[in-house]
Amino acid sequence: MSILITYASCSGSTAEIAEAIGETLSQQGIPVDVRPMTAVTDVTPYQAIIAGSAVRQEKWLPEAMQFLEAHQQVLAQKPVATFLAGMAMATKNPARYQKALQSASGWMAPARQLVHPVSEGYFAGVLDLKKIKELHFRIVLGSMVRLGLFPEGDHRDWEAIREWASALPTQFTTETATEFSGSAPLA
Ligand SMILES: Cc1cc2nc3c(=O)[nH]c(=O)nc-3n(C[C@H](O)[C@H](O)[C@H](O)COP(=O)(O)O)c2cc1C
Repeated sequence: MSILITYASCSGSTAEIAEAIGETLSQQGIPVDVRPMTAVTDVTPYQAIIAGSAVRQEKWLPEAMQFLEAHQQVLAQKPVATFLAGMAMATKNPARYQKALQSASGWMAPARQLVHPVSEGYFAGVLDLKKIKELHFRIVLGSMVRLGLFPEGDHRDWEAIREWASALPTQFTTETATEFSGSAPLA
Protein backbone atom coordinates (compact mmCIF):
# COMPACT_ATOMS: atom_id res chain seq x y z
CA MET A 1 0.00 0.00 0.00
CA SER A 2 1.39 3.42 -0.91
CA ILE A 3 -0.17 6.46 0.72
CA LEU A 4 -0.16 10.11 -0.31
CA ILE A 5 -0.13 12.67 2.47
CA THR A 6 -0.91 16.03 0.95
CA TYR A 7 -1.31 19.38 2.63
CA ALA A 8 -2.09 23.09 2.29
CA SER A 9 -0.13 25.32 4.64
CA CYS A 10 0.54 29.08 4.85
CA SER A 11 3.24 29.24 7.50
CA GLY A 12 4.55 25.67 7.50
CA SER A 13 2.99 24.17 10.64
CA THR A 14 0.49 22.01 8.74
CA ALA A 15 3.29 20.86 6.43
CA GLU A 16 5.18 19.62 9.50
CA ILE A 17 2.06 17.80 10.75
CA ALA A 18 1.86 16.09 7.33
CA GLU A 19 5.54 15.13 7.64
CA ALA A 20 4.90 13.64 11.10
CA ILE A 21 1.97 11.61 9.69
CA GLY A 22 4.26 10.43 6.89
CA GLU A 23 7.00 9.41 9.36
CA THR A 24 4.49 7.49 11.50
CA LEU A 25 3.28 5.49 8.51
CA SER A 26 6.84 4.95 7.22
CA GLN A 27 7.73 3.45 10.59
CA GLN A 28 4.94 0.93 9.98
CA GLY A 29 6.71 -0.04 6.73
CA ILE A 30 4.24 1.78 4.47
CA PRO A 31 5.65 3.68 1.47
CA VAL A 32 4.49 7.32 1.58
CA ASP A 33 4.77 10.53 -0.41
CA VAL A 34 4.32 13.81 1.49
CA ARG A 35 3.56 16.66 -0.91
CA PRO A 36 1.94 20.11 -0.94
CA MET A 37 -1.45 19.93 -2.69
CA THR A 38 -0.29 22.44 -5.29
CA ALA A 39 2.42 19.96 -6.39
CA VAL A 40 0.07 16.97 -6.82
CA THR A 41 -1.21 16.37 -10.33
CA ASP A 42 -2.27 12.71 -10.12
CA VAL A 43 -3.58 10.68 -7.18
CA THR A 44 -4.23 7.46 -9.14
CA PRO A 45 -0.94 5.75 -8.12
CA TYR A 46 -1.89 5.79 -4.43
CA GLN A 47 -3.95 3.27 -2.50
CA ALA A 48 -5.11 5.88 0.00
CA ILE A 49 -4.93 9.66 0.43
CA ILE A 50 -4.58 11.77 3.58
CA ALA A 51 -5.41 15.41 2.86
CA GLY A 52 -5.02 18.21 5.39
CA SER A 53 -5.13 21.98 5.55
CA ALA A 54 -4.48 24.87 7.86
CA VAL A 55 -7.69 26.68 8.82
CA ARG A 56 -8.14 30.35 8.05
CA GLN A 57 -11.36 32.14 8.90
CA GLU A 58 -13.05 28.84 9.73
CA LYS A 59 -12.24 27.29 6.37
CA TRP A 60 -9.73 24.97 4.76
CA LEU A 61 -7.35 26.98 2.58
CA PRO A 62 -8.66 27.58 -0.97
CA GLU A 63 -6.01 25.35 -2.58
CA ALA A 64 -7.14 22.47 -0.33
CA MET A 65 -10.73 22.73 -1.54
CA GLN A 66 -9.45 23.07 -5.11
CA PHE A 67 -7.46 19.86 -4.63
CA LEU A 68 -10.57 17.93 -3.54
CA GLU A 69 -12.58 19.36 -6.43
CA ALA A 70 -9.89 18.57 -9.01
CA HIS A 71 -9.46 14.95 -7.86
CA GLN A 72 -12.98 14.25 -6.63
CA GLN A 73 -13.69 11.41 -9.08
CA VAL A 74 -10.54 9.44 -8.31
CA LEU A 75 -10.81 10.17 -4.58
CA ALA A 76 -14.32 8.67 -4.60
CA GLN A 77 -12.74 5.30 -5.47
CA LYS A 78 -10.09 5.34 -2.73
CA PRO A 79 -10.07 5.54 1.04
CA VAL A 80 -9.46 9.11 2.17
CA ALA A 81 -8.72 10.71 5.54
CA THR A 82 -8.76 14.44 6.18
CA PHE A 83 -7.31 16.67 8.86
CA LEU A 84 -7.09 20.31 9.80
CA ALA A 85 -4.82 22.46 11.95
CA GLY A 86 -6.26 25.42 13.81
CA MET A 87 -5.76 27.41 16.98
CA ALA A 88 -9.30 26.77 18.24
CA MET A 89 -8.12 23.26 19.23
CA ALA A 90 -5.28 24.70 21.34
CA THR A 91 -7.38 25.29 24.44
CA LYS A 92 -6.60 23.29 27.61
CA ASN A 93 -10.17 23.78 28.90
CA PRO A 94 -12.10 20.52 28.23
CA ALA A 95 -15.47 22.26 27.71
CA ARG A 96 -13.96 24.81 25.32
CA TYR A 97 -12.12 22.00 23.54
CA GLN A 98 -15.38 20.09 22.96
CA LYS A 99 -16.97 23.26 21.60
CA ALA A 100 -13.97 23.88 19.37
CA LEU A 101 -14.19 20.32 18.00
CA GLN A 102 -17.87 20.84 17.23
CA SER A 103 -17.14 24.08 15.38
CA ALA A 104 -14.17 22.54 13.56
CA SER A 105 -16.33 19.62 12.46
CA GLY A 106 -18.56 22.23 10.79
CA TRP A 107 -15.52 23.76 9.06
CA MET A 108 -14.93 20.32 7.50
CA ALA A 109 -18.46 20.16 6.08
CA PRO A 110 -17.53 21.60 2.65
CA ALA A 111 -14.76 18.97 2.32
CA ARG A 112 -17.25 16.27 3.35
CA GLN A 113 -19.46 17.33 0.42
CA LEU A 114 -16.65 16.24 -1.92
CA VAL A 115 -15.10 13.20 -0.22
CA HIS A 116 -16.15 10.65 2.39
CA PRO A 117 -13.31 10.43 4.88
CA VAL A 118 -12.81 7.27 6.94
CA SER A 119 -11.36 9.51 9.64
CA GLU A 120 -10.96 13.23 10.35
CA GLY A 121 -8.10 14.63 12.45
CA TYR A 122 -8.47 17.89 14.37
CA PHE A 123 -5.15 19.29 15.51
CA ALA A 124 -3.99 22.40 17.32
CA GLY A 125 -1.54 24.41 15.22
CA VAL A 126 0.95 27.22 15.59
CA LEU A 127 0.31 30.93 15.90
CA ASP A 128 3.26 33.24 15.38
CA LEU A 129 1.95 36.76 14.80
CA LYS A 130 5.29 37.86 13.34
CA LYS A 131 4.93 35.26 10.56
CA ILE A 132 1.54 36.53 9.35
CA LYS A 133 2.26 38.47 6.18
CA GLU A 134 -1.05 40.34 5.86
CA LEU A 135 -1.24 43.36 8.20
CA HIS A 136 -5.03 43.18 8.65
CA PHE A 137 -4.83 39.50 9.68
CA ARG A 138 -1.95 40.33 12.06
CA ILE A 139 -4.17 42.94 13.72
CA VAL A 140 -7.23 40.64 13.93
CA LEU A 141 -5.25 37.65 15.27
CA GLY A 142 -3.35 39.96 17.65
CA SER A 143 -6.60 41.10 19.22
CA MET A 144 -7.85 37.50 19.45
CA VAL A 145 -4.68 36.64 21.37
CA ARG A 146 -5.17 39.65 23.70
CA LEU A 147 -8.80 38.60 24.31
CA GLY A 148 -7.62 35.09 25.20
CA LEU A 149 -9.49 33.48 22.28
CA PHE A 150 -6.38 32.03 20.64
CA PRO A 151 -3.05 31.36 22.37
CA GLU A 152 0.23 32.23 20.65
CA GLY A 153 2.98 29.68 20.12
CA ASP A 154 3.33 26.08 19.00
CA HIS A 155 0.46 23.96 20.35
CA ARG A 156 0.84 20.90 18.15
CA ASP A 157 0.30 17.67 20.07
CA TRP A 158 2.69 15.29 18.33
CA GLU A 159 1.49 12.31 20.33
CA ALA A 160 -2.14 12.89 19.27
CA ILE A 161 -1.05 13.38 15.65
CA ARG A 162 0.97 10.13 15.63
CA GLU A 163 -1.80 8.24 17.38
CA TRP A 164 -4.34 9.36 14.77
CA ALA A 165 -1.97 8.51 11.91
CA SER A 166 -1.06 5.06 13.20
CA ALA A 167 -4.74 3.98 13.26
CA LEU A 168 -5.32 4.97 9.63
CA PRO A 169 -3.92 1.95 7.73
CA THR A 170 -6.38 -0.38 9.48
CA GLN A 171 -9.23 2.05 8.82
CA PHE A 172 -8.24 2.29 5.17
CA THR A 173 -8.19 -1.50 4.81
CA THR A 174 -11.53 -1.93 6.58
CA GLU A 175 -13.04 0.74 4.34
CA THR A 176 -11.82 -1.06 1.22
CA ALA A 177 -13.19 -4.38 2.52
CA THR A 178 -16.59 -2.79 3.23
CA GLU A 179 -16.63 -1.12 -0.14
CA PHE A 180 -15.99 -4.40 -1.96
CA SER A 181 -18.19 -6.63 0.18
CA GLY A 182 -21.44 -7.40 -1.54
CA SER A 183 -20.15 -6.53 -5.00
CA ALA A 184 -20.35 -9.24 -7.63
CA PRO A 185 -17.24 -11.46 -7.91
CA LEU A 186 -15.06 -10.77 -10.90
CA ALA A 187 -15.81 -13.09 -13.83
C1 LIG B 1 -5.50 34.79 9.07
C2 LIG B 1 -5.64 33.60 9.96
C3 LIG B 1 -6.91 33.10 10.23
C4 LIG B 1 -7.05 31.99 11.07
N1 LIG B 1 -8.30 31.52 11.32
C5 LIG B 1 -8.44 30.46 12.15
C6 LIG B 1 -9.73 29.94 12.43
O1 LIG B 1 -10.75 30.40 11.93
N2 LIG B 1 -9.82 28.90 13.31
C7 LIG B 1 -8.71 28.33 13.88
O2 LIG B 1 -8.86 27.40 14.66
N3 LIG B 1 -7.46 28.79 13.60
C8 LIG B 1 -7.31 29.83 12.77
N4 LIG B 1 -6.06 30.31 12.48
C9 LIG B 1 -4.89 29.63 13.05
C10 LIG B 1 -4.19 28.73 12.01
O3 LIG B 1 -5.05 27.75 11.52
C11 LIG B 1 -2.99 28.05 12.68
O4 LIG B 1 -2.10 29.05 13.00
C12 LIG B 1 -2.35 27.00 11.78
O5 LIG B 1 -1.42 26.24 12.54
C13 LIG B 1 -1.64 27.64 10.60
O6 LIG B 1 -1.14 26.62 9.77
P1 LIG B 1 0.07 26.87 8.76
O7 LIG B 1 1.30 27.20 9.60
O8 LIG B 1 0.22 25.56 8.07
O9 LIG B 1 -0.31 27.97 7.86
C14 LIG B 1 -5.90 31.39 11.65
C15 LIG B 1 -4.63 31.91 11.36
C16 LIG B 1 -4.50 33.00 10.53
C17 LIG B 1 -3.13 33.52 10.26
